[in-house]
Amino acid sequence: MCGIVGYIGRRNSLSILMEGLKRLEYRGYDSAGVAVINDSKDINFFKKAGKVKEIEEHFDPDALSGTTGIGHTRWATHGAPNDTNAHPHFDMGKNIAIVHNGIIENYKSLKRKLESAGFSFSTETDTEVLANLIEFHFRNTNDFEKAVRIALTDVEGTYGIAILNKKEPDKIIIARMGSPLMLGLGKDETIISSDAAAIINHTKNVIYLEDGEMAVIKRDSFQIKTISDEDIFREVQKIEFDLTEIEKSGFEHFMLKEICEQPDSIQNTYRGRINFETGVVKLGGLENVSDKLFNAKRIIITGCGTAWHAGLVGEYMLEHYCRIPAEVEYASEFRYRNPIINRDDVVILISQSGETADTRAAMKEAQRLGATTIGIVNVVGSTIAREVDAGTYIHAGPEIGVASTKAFTSQLMSLALITLMIANNKGTLSEKQLIEIASEVKVLPEKMKHIIDKRNDYKFIAEEFKDAKNFLYLGRGFNFPVALEGALKLKEISYIHAEGYPAAEMKHGPIALIDENMPVVFIAPKDSTYDKIISNIEEIKARKGKIITIANEDDMEISNYSDYVLRVPASVPLFAPILNSIPLQFLSYYIAAARNCNVDQPRNLAKSVTVE
Ligand code: G6P
Repeated sequence: MCGIVGYIGRRNSLSILMEGLKRLEYRGYDSAGVAVINDSKDINFFKKAGKVKEIEEHFDPDALSGTTGIGHTRWATHGAPNDTNAHPHFDMGKNIAIVHNGIIENYKSLKRKLESAGFSFSTETDTEVLANLIEFHFRNTNDFEKAVRIALTDVEGTYGIAILNKKEPDKIIIARMGSPLMLGLGKDETIISSDAAAIINHTKNVIYLEDGEMAVIKRDSFQIKTISDEDIFREVQKIEFDLTEIEKSGFEHFMLKEICEQPDSIQNTYRGRINFETGVVKLGGLENVSDKLFNAKRIIITGCGTAWHAGLVGEYMLEHYCRIPAEVEYASEFRYRNPIINRDDVVILISQSGETADTRAAMKEAQRLGATTIGIVNVVGSTIAREVDAGTYIHAGPEIGVASTKAFTSQLMSLALITLMIANNKGTLSEKQLIEIASEVKVLPEKMKHIIDKRNDYKFIAEEFKDAKNFLYLGRGFNFPVALEGALKLKEISYIHAEGYPAAEMKHGPIALIDENMPVVFIAPKDSTYDKIISNIEEIKARKGKIITIANEDDMEISNYSDYVLRVPASVPLFAPILNSIPLQFLSYYIAAARNCNVDQPRNLAKSVTVE
């Protein structure tokens, strides 16, 4: 979704805003802009469709100097992604400048009211309405803070906003309802951002704004209040990662870097949480809900996109190893279908960003219905992480590539740890089995590294298939969701149509698509479904489809059935999806790279979708 940055202090704000926008660009990247208050108390601005780097080439930095400014990188919701609709937006007199992430749902009725009060508009955006609404109330009150407060009580929808007013040039006002916003506290300066990536280079001390709160920020002070004017005291928190973790470190793309980081990120997920001698798992963040979790009648897992795929694997894990009924729901459907949720149910919310609007709404619905909510989240301090009853961070580190990779495998590891914890409590796994599985955890990073070291082998296959129009991904059992995730990765970044299916279901439709031009990727580890998968491969082969198989290293038989074999070390069913995902990540990466696609910022997508 959109990224917001702001600066007030003693330095020239422009370079800080631009650097911040580049770091936030993964949140949205169809247009960007900045507005800065100069020494003569005028607001100067520049905004344009395109990537932040392209925009930088078009403005004159001297015309944008000043120590107070705001910036925005956009992912369009209302209005086409063009120069006019780019943020910042202004009231008609250009006194107020605003950057906004979210959607003002009642903007049309507000616009009509403002038009009848003589206001006119030059863009199609909901944000311009908000700028004029603030100006309208400023004219009546002559008080910037009060004007924002009153305007926000008129507004329905979601927002993270940062506002300048040239009549009160020594402050920035920010407010939050549904879209993340934080303050980075430096010496005599404050950096505002929708996430820590834009702040970390300047300070590690941050304050997260909560929904329904606003802050008035001056050079050397700030004050947080609720929108209804009650004082708020909020503790300063420390950001725990550093800049090198969000830089490319020599890799061509963040996605490639993040795929290759997985042996480390997976260790960060389980480090200190599993005793390798006893196989016992301890997740500190779940202690306060352990009774609920161990006695749950049912576990519902929800999330969006890749997180939903992780949830599907989680369903297999929980039912297979713990014998607890588990269900997986798209977060976007959850609350609209009047779900039957009981107080004994546990709802697990999976979200890399912890900010996805649909997942947040599902959390609220589950809480309203009395279920216990557990978060599996990456971004520390994010909304879901803060608002669930209990949670476990996956600790995968910042994920910048829009296509999720390391977060997915760490989500799978977190689900596996929860599974082992419950299985131990319920006795559905014996001590011996737990120890065996724990010893598999220990060797997993080495096995992942082994796959990663062979990544150059994938380039050849990518070249071969880069012009394919369609792909089919097939897997069974624990590896059916891996097939879905493999297909999602390919379509996200290469724009090739791809579908994932349970391998046997292929006979009930997709088989009609098979001809000599159709590549079919099979996930075929040597597990209990192996023989069945071989039959499915033969069915495709008989129709001349091209077969790419993910298979175990010692499986020599598979070469008889496959055009290409991508080999992975064998593992227990609990962890096989983690290993089997990596070749699929590479396959999609190298195909997208061979097609010259923008791997890290695919068209139309956003890293974190904070609108419904
Ligand atoms: C967006 C991203 C996906 C991600 C999904 C859920 O659609 O492009 O990569 O899986 O949101 O995001 P979350 O942050 O909740 O895991």
